[in-house]
Amino acid sequence: MDLPSVRRPACLCASAVRDVKKVARRAGREFLPARAHHKKAAIVVRGIMSLYRNALFFLKGIHEFTREGYDVASASFMSKDLEVNVSGKSFMITGANSGIGKAAAIEIAKKGGTIHMVCRHRDRALEAKDEIVKLSGNENIFVHVLDMSETSKVWQFAENFKKDHTTLDVLINNAGCMVHPRQVTKEGLELNFATNTLGTYVLTTCLITVLEKSEEPRVITVSSGGMLVQKLELGDLQSEKGPYDATMVYAQNKRQQVVMTEQWAKMKTNIHFSVMHPGWADTPAVRMAMPEFYRFMKAKLRSPEQGADTIVWLAVSKAAISHPSGLFFQDRTAVSAHLPLAWTRLLPGEGEAFMETLQLLINHCTVL
Ligand SMILES: NC(=O)c1ccc[n+]([C@@H]2O[C@H](COP(=O)([O-])OP(=O)(O)OC[C@H]3O[C@@H](n4cnc5c(N)ncnc54)[C@H](OP(=O)(O)O)[C@@H]3O)[C@@H](O)[C@H]2O)c1
Repeated sequence: MDLPSVRRPACLCASAVRDVKKVARRAGREFLPARAHHKKAAIVVRGIMSLYRNALFFLKGIHEFTREGYDVASASFMSKDLEVNVSGKSFMITGANSGIGKAAAIEIAKKGGTIHMVCRHRDRALEAKDEIVKLSGNENIFVHVLDMSETSKVWQFAENFKKDHTTLDVLINNAGCMVHPRQVTKEGLELNFATNTLGTYVLTTCLITVLEKSEEPRVITVSSGGMLVQKLELGDLQSEKGPYDATMVYAQNKRQQVVMTEQWAKMKTNIHFSVMHPGWADTPAVRMAMPEFYRFMKAKLRSPEQGADTIVWLAVSKAAISHPSGLFFQDRTAVSAHLPLAWTRLLPGEGEAFMETLQLLINHCTVL
């Protein structure tokens, strides 16, 4: 199977959004189990499953996603895995001005890599660039200003990057957000979906041809353990049905990133794709988007560097690419992307239908 090329997206007009919604609704209906037609029973089942998944997720999180979890896991890390020099290789990192993305950029820059920082605010990006140069002694750090929620601009950026650069070795899809209340972009998309899912899809799909020129191309997507509580839902990609819960929308986007990675791995076997959970790290995103969680967990959170460790390992180590493409990682280990008995696995054809829907969204943007 081949990846479709991404055509130029324009602003989504209202009718395009309606068409895509129809397709998504149809796809969603096709995959609903028969019992979902009995609305009340379905609501009860969903409620019970949600409680079960959330309880299991939190228990797992307390043991594994915290600083203590990192300390336990890192006892078996092989330090030689990261003893590499990546001078001459180029790494694009979205959201590299803050938190986990910046920590990854610093580590990779210290190993000699050229860093393309893709950030939405020029001033913050330049400030972070100065810090990365200072800490790494590496001057090959470049800033690109781009808002990942603006689909057409993501496409335009990737097209220009390909004209200006002959190679890209590693793409790290790190930028992410959890915005509430619900907001819609100028292109008519729910903001979290546009940033976390469609931005990642467009950037990666457009950059495939330049990545393929690398000897050892890799794409790493920073998802979240939060996706463990979600099954891919095709029927409401713009989060219009029912009450809006940003935490669950974010978790759904992070599940979508896992599905995209699995699908990319099947479609493009010459690129190594992986998706990962950084653990619970103390970053501006957690402080701002989840203040209660932050207050409760503050003392147990990982440092951004600990959160970034597996990203760096996936980006530079030989050990990482000895694993098959398309897997989900936590603390340098390939782990299941599903909690036991949580009914979050894809039904046959769902992953492909999701990718087709994303492609339709992009194609429907071509109304200029
Ligand atoms: N920290 C955790 O515990 C945790 C857990 C699981 C997953 N993650 C994931 O880790 C990744 C990094 O997050 P973080 O925790 O390091 O938070 P962070 O420090 O706030 O970093 C998020 C980065 O994403 C950028 N960003 C957000 N929306 C963007 C947009 N529309 N266009 C371009 N850039 C955008 C931010 O830019 P600004 O600085 O301009 O806002 C920032 O650079 C995210 O994907 C997040 O979902 C984090």
